[in-house]
Amino acid sequence: KKLAVFVSGGGSNFKSIHQACLQGSVHGDVVVLVTNKHDCGGAEYARNKEIPVILFPRTKDEPDGLSPSDLLSALREFDVDFILLAGYLKLIPVELIQAYPKCILNIHPSLLPAFGGKGYYGMKVHKAVIASGARYSGATIHFVDQHYDTGRILAQRVVPVLANDTAEELAARVLREEHQLYVEVTAALCEGRIIWREDGVPLILSRE
Ligand code: GRF
Repeated sequence: KKLAVFVSGGGSNFKSIHQACLQGSVHGDVVVLVTNKHDCGGAEYARNKEIPVILFPRTKDEPDGLSPSDLLSALREFDVDFILLAGYLKLIPVELIQAYPKCILNIHPSLLPAFGGKGYYGMKVHKAVIASGARYSGATIHFVDQHYDTGRILAQRVVPVLANDTAEELAARVLREEHQLYVEVTAALCEGRIIWREDGVPLILSRE
């Protein structure tokens, strides 16, 4: 299957998915990287690996960014099957969501629906988790809809919050799980192992 990955930052999830594709544990190819920051770590990694980089959206800082309809045409040209958001901080336009139904995933560094939504990104998530006194946090992979972090939950991984955790320590513990979880879920996606329960909840089938 052909994958487009969207990143805004360091792109460690992108790297682990790309490596899993190269190693064959994911039956997929990252055919294009989409970013809103041309100089982010994820974009640099992509250029090093000769993966085409697309800038989206067009902003004052990124005047070469594409419009939503041009992005859609580009993804069609690359014959993209699935879109994986991995630390991409912009909202996905409705056109894209409608063009790729049940084909866009996001990863979020908390156990949604807790600590999700517009204000919750980066270290803010982990600071809020620690401040709440929650004893567990984790990672969530969900399908993407028009809002931040509200699409159907597909998979979660739990980590403990330790008594003296800093946000950075918790973030690192969650991120390690994210890397494994996103690879496992992408493998399932590429193998057609995701089914939809009648009430609209997506489930992952294990390998036979
Ligand atoms: C991850 O914590 C992810 O859950 C969140 O943004 C972070 C991206 O990290 N959406 P990286 O760019 O993959 O290293």
